[in-house]
Amino acid sequence: MNQLFNLSGRTALVTGSARGIGFALAEGLATAGARVILNGTRADTVADAVSRLDAKGFSAQGRAFDVTDEQAVADAFAQWDKDGVKIDIVINNAGIQFRKPLVELELSDWQRVIDTNLTSAFIVSKQAAQRMIARGTGGKIVNIGSLTSEAARATVGAYTAAKGGIKMLTRAMSAEWAASNIQANAIGPGYILTDMNQALVENAAFDAWVKNSNPSQRWGRPEELVGTAVFLASPASSYVNGQIIYVDGGWLAVL
Ligand SMILES: NC(=O)c1ccc[n+]([C@@H]2O[C@H](COP(=O)([O-])OP(=O)(O)OC[C@H]3O[C@@H](n4cnc5c(N)ncnc54)[C@H](OP(=O)(O)O)[C@@H]3O)[C@@H](O)[C@H]2O)c1
Repeated sequence: MNQLFNLSGRTALVTGSARGIGFALAEGLATAGARVILNGTRADTVADAVSRLDAKGFSAQGRAFDVTDEQAVADAFAQWDKDGVKIDIVINNAGIQFRKPLVELELSDWQRVIDTNLTSAFIVSKQAAQRMIARGTGGKIVNIGSLTSEAARATVGAYTAAKGGIKMLTRAMSAEWAASNIQANAIGPGYILTDMNQALVENAAFDAWVKNSNPSQRWGRPEELVGTAVFLASPASSYVNGQIIYVDGGWLAVL
């Protein structure tokens, strides 16, 4: 049974993993045996996150780059090629939120949210999949969606469009890459306690809404996404492709 979920000998890139969900997923994959590559926009916070994993005895390295910058992503992959680093697993986790009603939303903010939450997954996965296909080794792509991959809420229109796009991009990836033994799937987290939601947690009305409308009656924790991420990154999911698994405490199951 352990072999099904064993990531020993695999290298995983987790974007946006200096903190929050990304860091928890990177630590989870490392616990399952993977070498992990951490990423974020800032070299200092990425280095700090790498040292936290190093201190626990895990094999981790880091590289800061902006996932929306195609050249920066290509440079990172070219450097890993030179260093002999072969990426078997990509978790497209980097993301941002920006709350404003659609009628007030500037095009530049719409574009920033779409680029960071959706286009980045195309940019990073394209580089990874080109190499997985050329090596003939297959691989794993795990895209991070959201409840908004399925349902809309006011003030997060660009984010909703991006995360809905993640669900369909995941299917497009599996349509093109499954024959090369690449499994592309997504995780749709519910409301999880991270920096992204700090203002919402501190807003008593929103906090009460989260607790009253979710059948689990609580926020989720980043580590509660680890089991699904390890499953989708491991041999256990070798015939699972193009799916999005919601880890939301049951939220989407109820009205
Ligand atoms: N928290 C939730 O309730 C929730 C629910 C559903 C889905 N999600 C999704 O889960 C993912 C992680 O969310 P989180 O709550 O952990 O967010 P977070 O705590 O705000 O962390 C976001 C991470 O993404 C990185 N990032 C942002 N823009 C980037 C860019 N252009 N290039 C590289 N890295 C970038 C950040 O890097 P820096 O540290 O350098 O800023 C940070 O490491 C996102 O895709 C989010 O949409 C979250």
